[in-house]
Amino acid sequence: MTAKSIGWGKVILLGEHAVVYGYPALAAALDRGVTMVAVPTPAGGPLRLDVPVWDLAVTAGTLDDHHPVGRSLAAIADALGLGRPAVTLVGDAQIPPGAGLGSSAAMAVAVARALLVWAKRPQDAATITEVAAASETLLHGRASGVDVALALAGGLGVFRKSAGLRRLTLAQPLRVLVGSSAEPGATAAMIDRVAEATAASRDDARLAELGALTDTGTAALAGGDLAGLGAAMNRAHTVLATLGVSTPKLDALCGAARAAGAHGAKLTGAGGGGALVAVAPREAEAAVLAAWKAQGVTGFVTVLGR
Ligand code: MEV
Repeated sequence: MTAKSIGWGKVILLGEHAVVYGYPALAAALDRGVTMVAVPTPAGGPLRLDVPVWDLAVTAGTLDDHHPVGRSLAAIADALGLGRPAVTLVGDAQIPPGAGLGSSAAMAVAVARALLVWAKRPQDAATITEVAAASETLLHGRASGVDVALALAGGLGVFRKSAGLRRLTLAQPLRVLVGSSAEPGATAAMIDRVAEATAASRDDARLAELGALTDTGTAALAGGDLAGLGAAMNRAHTVLATLGVSTPKLDALCGAARAAGAHGAKLTGAGGGGALVAVAPREAEAAVLAAWKAQGVTGFVTVLGR
């Protein structure tokens, strides 16, 4: 039995959107993601991808296929020079699709890894990064690479477009609460919205502030100052909202988390819906989850940077 190939989901603690413009982001892989195995398709036919838990079944078509995942699969197969073999990629996922938790990068990395296993080629990190980035660019337009870096490497660290992922070793792993707003996220549209909102200045002060908040929050995290990290997250949410990527629901869920005792809460990922992340004292975690539940959102606690 062939081992499953994995791409990790991720959560951005600070710096989303600004990272597209070269500023740093503090981000971590989740302990869950997308797993994939490539098996021969007995009936023959073109390359297929089935992820039953996402209700997803596509064939790799061409780059102008109508289904975005069909296009992504085609881009990955082309970048690996594999053509359209009679292979089915059978996937499972422990993160929701399109919710800001890095599902598309996790899927692209898992697909690339599984195809390399099938083709008996080495699991070369540079190759996987390149082909997964091709898929992300196709799906989201201007992607910084932060999602792919974490989907591939796991762990926690500071990502910059110019330098990649610099891992951080924490004295204590970080417990965070993650909730999905149940509104579909819209990565490409939100990236475009930020581009429009900041078009007037190449050094938009809000992007610079998001970058500075990454630095402040990272220093606080490294020093074990969760209140400091939370304060940076709260401010980052406000700045992201002024860029137009929050929603009333995300604002309400962040407010509810703070009222229940969280140090900080913010949207995570591209926004426009999707997920949120909170940092809370251990004794307030149950109250935060209950406050989200009262708004119809099931959250979970996850441990980052282990
Ligand atoms: C998406 O997870 C994070 C964004 O900053 C886009 C990117 O960095 O590719 C919104």
